[in-house]
Amino acid sequence: MIREALVFLLTPTTPLAKKYGFLYSSIALQHRFERCKKAWLPHLKNCQDLFLETVQDLPRKKSVVVLGSAHLHEIPLHLLSEHFEDITLVDVVHPLKHHRLAKRNSHLKLVTEDLSKSLEKLDKINNLEELHQLLQQLQDQNLFYFEADLVISGNLLSQLALLPIEAVERKIKRSLSLEEKDQICTAFAELHLKNLKNCKGRKLVYADRKVIYRDTKGEVIYTGEYPVSFEGFTKLKEWIWQLAPLKEASKDYSIEMKIEAYKKD
Ligand SMILES: C[S@@+](CC[C@H](N)C(=O)[O-])C[C@H]1O[C@@H](n2cnc3c(N)ncnc32)[C@H](O)[C@@H]1O
Repeated sequence: MIREALVFLLTPTTPLAKKYGFLYSSIALQHRFERCKKAWLPHLKNCQDLFLETVQDLPRKKSVVVLGSAHLHEIPLHLLSEHFEDITLVDVVHPLKHHRLAKRNSHLKLVTEDLSKSLEKLDKINNLEELHQLLQQLQDQNLFYFEADLVISGNLLSQLALLPIEAVERKIKRSLSLEEKDQICTAFAELHLKNLKNCKGRKLVYADRKVIYRDTKGEVIYTGEYPVSFEGFTKLKEWIWQLAPLKEASKDYSIEMKIEAYKKD
């Protein structure tokens, strides 16, 4: 408890990240990783194998950018630095250990930003129509741009729409229908892919595409997925990530994610 409180207090955090609970989620993610490491291993191995395959024939290996870097569970820092000289990590919040490492190493850069460019505007949104208007405005903007030999988008695709959806639901005091939510998720995911495509360098995407809940007998009790076009990207592989085995999130169900990996030169 004391360790967690200290990490909470000492981690540099923007007001935006604080407001939307990103620091809390980041600490919770690290704890879940420590509890579920064994179940996560096949997922982490897939991410690392694909990373190694992708870097193998890169014409140059000077720089890498990781979007949604979090704790770098998928591609650990030592693996990134074995292959690249300059490493840039991009997230709304970075773990304390990355801040400490970046202070000592000029080749490690932390960029703290909202890749959806929507969070600052959520307070002003009063209904679903206004969220769609915001999405329309975002279509015409550069949300992010990075130049590197490799740009990795690391399992943040399905997260981009979560807070905008919650913000609208709070304002209109009702849950959005599945169809309404899917439309928003699709729009945020495709905006991310469009901006990623415009980045300079090879791209590698790990995309959390489907959530699957199973009961104690292993029977599927819920699945959630929304359409996303990966036009222009080449699919490399798909697999299941045992995100929360039984008793991790609940004693009644386990949670799995279907991950899809894509590449673009
Ligand atoms: C599932 S984690 C990614 C896991 C990570 N790639 C790894 O290797 O451990 C998703 C990350 O996306 C970040 N994220 C969510 N929404 C974001 C946004 N709008 N802009 C930037 N980062 C965001 C979260 O803070 C979180 O660290």
